[in-house]
Amino acid sequence: MYSEKVMEHFSNPHNMGDIENADGVGTVGNAKCGDIMKISLKIENNIITDAKFKTFGCGAAIATSSMATDLIIGKTIDEALTLTNSAVVEALEGLPPAKVHCSVLAEEAVKAAISDYYKKNGIDKEIPDASCHCHGDSCGCGE
Ligand code: FES
Repeated sequence: MYSEKVMEHFSNPHNMGDIENADGVGTVGNAKCGDIMKISLKIENNIITDAKFKTFGCGAAIATSSMATDLIIGKTIDEALTLTNSAVVEALEGLPPAKVHCSVLAEEAVKAAISDYYKKNGIDKEIPDASCHCHGDSCGCGE
């Protein structure tokens, strides 16, 4: 049911925990299942130098948090803002359709953490909405 990559990130998640004095923190919840994901970021000169997560949720949510944090470390804020749930799913070599909505949580948490960073620093910039990029591939998101 799950790819080897998903199992790898679920069994041995990368970047788990909290960042002390984080520059941006985003906590989001999945209305469908009640799971919660928190991502904290360290940002220096517009670059995400560290990212950590805490996820109270399903295995797919844990694997997507692990992969999403891996994918944004070392990236600029603008690059991190282009991270879609589909890119996370692709990097995990796929998720079962019913679990694709879990990956949206990762995209939302990254965006919420960057939004918090913008707020703390008085930066007035729009953040694109997180949404499922399954293009109706029956992941159950209804989009
Ligand atoms: Fe809740 Fe996966 S079932 S995030």
